[in-house]
Amino acid sequence: MAKTRTTFFCQNCGAQSPKWLGKCPSCGEWNTFVEEVVQREEKGTRWSSMGTAGRERKPQPVSEISFDTDQRINVHNAELNRVLGGGLVPGSVVLIGGEPGIGKSTLMLQVALNCKGIKVLYISGEESEQQIRMRAERIGIRNTDCFILTETSTQSIFQHLEELKPGMVIIDSIQTLHTDSIDSSSGSISQIKETAAEMQRFSKITNTPVFLIGHITKDGSLAGPKILEHMVDTVLNFEGDRNYGYRILRAAKNRFGSTSELGIYEMQDTGLREVSNPSEILLSQRDEDVSGIAIAATIEGLRPMLIETQALVSSAAYGTPQRSSTGFDTKRLNMLLAVLEKRSGFRLASKDVFLNIAGGIRVDDPAIDLAVVAAVLSSNQDLPVDSKSCFAAEVGLSGEIRAINRIDQRITEAEKLGFERIFISKYNLKGIDTKRFSIKIIPLRRISDLYAQLFS
Ligand code: TYD
Ligand code: MG
Repeated sequence: MAKTRTTFFCQNCGAQSPKWLGKCPSCGEWNTFVEEVVQREEKGTRWSSMGTAGRERKPQPVSEISFDTDQRINVHNAELNRVLGGGLVPGSVVLIGGEPGIGKSTLMLQVALNCKGIKVLYISGEESEQQIRMRAERIGIRNTDCFILTETSTQSIFQHLEELKPGMVIIDSIQTLHTDSIDSSSGSISQIKETAAEMQRFSKITNTPVFLIGHITKDGSLAGPKILEHMVDTVLNFEGDRNYGYRILRAAKNRFGSTSELGIYEMQDTGLREVSNPSEILLSQRDEDVSGIAIAATIEGLRPMLIETQALVSSAAYGTPQRSSTGFDTKRLNMLLAVLEKRSGFRLASKDVFLNIAGGIRVDDPAIDLAVVAAVLSSNQDLPVDSKSCFAAEVGLSGEIRAINRIDQRITEAEKLGFERIFISKYNLKGIDTKRFSIKIIPLRRISDLYAQLFS
């Protein structure tokens, strides 16, 4: 019998300490240390005992290691295939995180039902078989190769895996699993670490791809130790505003592809629909020109899309003006307003400013700056921006309009969607052949140029 050993773990970041601490030295959170028993069984399970031991490994030249490029598994979901970097790599472990109710279980069940011809085992520790069956009915795909198991102990899961030999495994969720080799309760740091390590060994040894669904903490990071993200091959975040139907799947880490890809879905009553042309949904239909609206030609991941930015500028009702934004960094909004105030003399200090990105999605592309500025100016002056114009440039602190990357792609997309004018930075003109485009390209140097072009 091994001696019982306990360690204190920070439940927020996974830091370890032999003693209890009030404040975590690594993440700074208070009262997060919990004592956990870390007593391993001597024997362990097949997967927990099979490490590198027992398998002879020797160095070999990288050019002589055999591989197969066409090996990727098609998950029959174009958006997910794209985010994974062109399909699922056998023997890889993919972690999917997201807020409760965002649609992680729905997405994975849909993948399981769609992968006809591959035996898929969907293991749920959160819902009953009946609940999953009801969900499958809503999604409305029939597949006899999709198996459901409601089990949380990894020891019995591995027994079932050995009998069924599935070609793909989905675990909903990693926080509900527990292994007998550790005494602490499921969801604790040491359980998450150990069960994930067991699943990873299983995946690597049998060459079976495994999807792990993970919960996130209140600040939006994946719940559990940071090492969980290091252990898996791919980390995907499923995000979106629950009040809107749109969901975005982003890769935060991918050993087999680019992390700049993203997938877009719409939640409908029959499950998640793939959105292959995002611009169409992100531009609201309007018949008349209203003030405070400007269209940004952005690139999210590798896809160009045109997004509507809406601003409302009104006199502040109370002493301190309010600045609020959805889908856009409020700090960046404040910075742009300060630039407008200082460099162009617009009196915005006594005004409330609200900013909204249509569709409830979050945009990180700096090229949206110019559209934000145009929307704010338009609302402030109560003069509409022509609906056939769009914008793509970054705004610097001195009020200069800065060049952005992949301008060609943005112009092409704007032209394709029927826009007649695009405002860009003068410094972007160098690399592009303006004669190639029929859309009118308007170069700008400073914010004051924008005002002159738009409203005079
Ligand atoms: P779910 O996949 O359970 O979220 P998660 O696993 O991330 O917690 O999704 C739950 C939400 O999705 C729920 O609010 C209902 C909605 N939904 C639909 O709108 N249509 C559907 O067809 C399904 C299955 C769910
Ligand atoms: Mg779920």
